[in-house]
Amino acid sequence: MTVRVAIAGSTGSIGTQTIEVIRAENDRAPGSYAVTALSAGSSVDLVLAQIDELRPDVVAIADEDARREVAARTTGVTIVADSADVIDVADVIVNGVVGFAGLAVTVGTLRAGKRLALANKESLIAAGPVVQPLRTTPGAELVPVDSEHCALHQCLRSSSAPDREVARLLLTASGGPFRGRTEDDLAAVTVESALAHPTWAMGPKITVDSSTLMNKGLEVIEAHELYGTPYEDIDVVVHPQSVVHSMVEFSDGSTIAQLSMPTMHLPIGYALGYPDRIATPFGRIDWTTLGSLDFEPPDRSTFRCLDLAYAAGRIGGTAPAWLSAANEVAVEGFLSGKVRWNAIADVCVEVLERHDGAIPSDVDDVIEADQIARRIAERIVEQQ
Ligand SMILES: NC(=O)c1ccc[n+]([C@@H]2O[C@H](COP(=O)([O-])OP(=O)(O)OC[C@H]3O[C@@H](n4cnc5c(N)ncnc54)[C@H](OP(=O)(O)O)[C@@H]3O)[C@@H](O)[C@H]2O)c1
Repeated sequence: MTVRVAIAGSTGSIGTQTIEVIRAENDRAPGSYAVTALSAGSSVDLVLAQIDELRPDVVAIADEDARREVAARTTGVTIVADSADVIDVADVIVNGVVGFAGLAVTVGTLRAGKRLALANKESLIAAGPVVQPLRTTPGAELVPVDSEHCALHQCLRSSSAPDREVARLLLTASGGPFRGRTEDDLAAVTVESALAHPTWAMGPKITVDSSTLMNKGLEVIEAHELYGTPYEDIDVVVHPQSVVHSMVEFSDGSTIAQLSMPTMHLPIGYALGYPDRIATPFGRIDWTTLGSLDFEPPDRSTFRCLDLAYAAGRIGGTAPAWLSAANEVAVEGFLSGKVRWNAIADVCVEVLERHDGAIPSDVDDVIEADQIARRIAERIVEQQ
């Protein structure tokens, strides 16, 4: 049976790698997957090339001018504005949109009772209390694509107990490009150096988040939302080689880890094939050349964003939405030269200090929280 896949954010790092996995699987077993829908922000030429190759039924383009241009240059494809309109024509929806813009796809997919292959962590972090109940929609299934959460998902399959017998989740972090540097060293880092990730090639927002350890902090909240593990039982360990993707320590003292060379093709293929494993191998380890695997604690005082995320997660309600929105604004400010790298954490601290304590009861509340936090963050950025 052909699995119909919609790729939201098809022109990005996750989106293009999803297409590579599907190409490889279809080369091995023709007709395994059909890409029935795509969505993108504004990358006209790339999305046109993808339409030409994959012949989807529906393509969503967020940017109005780009949408008009794509519509004018294609035939036989329904062109729409809203990313969430890709859901109807697919069995599995890969959410590779970046940032809060991914919320509609996350919510719409779970509400439609379909499989969500979730790379867009921001939607789960911002809207955790609203997304949780949707996971019980008949047919709805959330399989994480983030490599750490995919690793945890695989490790947790080793227990059939209702509580999974978990003592601790251990998220690994590469440490990013600035591992080992002091706050003084980092006073004047350039955008170029923040984008030079040592082990992963990703989109710009998540790459900057990796440099500040905000990405790991957001992943702590993501792990809490996905697996219900209390924050005090989620730890972070720096592992510069990015071969151990995360670990679960069980109640009897055993630790189970998932290993592969760093590639997103593996977690994407896992989410597409689940509960089976795809037959195309990605990230196989050559143990004769692997060398050593190192582990060290994170530097929590230089990389303040990690503990900020723990704090926002523990506050709960809309605090993670506020943190995520503040971080998006600060990172955009850094990428456009308005904010120093060191000030990303300052912007997030200042925004969180003004959190109004709200608890979201629906998607509109989450959108409102995002907008309030964004406005506060934008004002702070303008004053930098
Ligand atoms: N990249 C990785 O290895 C990786 C690993 C783990 C998790 N993730 C997560 O996956 C998500 C995507 O990351 P990425 O690195 O793939 O980002 P990216 O390379 O920047 O790609 C983002 C995608 O989102 C699209 N997009 C942007 N704004 C949009 C909007 N308003 N509506 C619809 N689509 C929009 C972009 O379209 P345009 O190209 O047209 O702008 C692009 O297709 C993030 O949440 C990230 O944290 C990524």
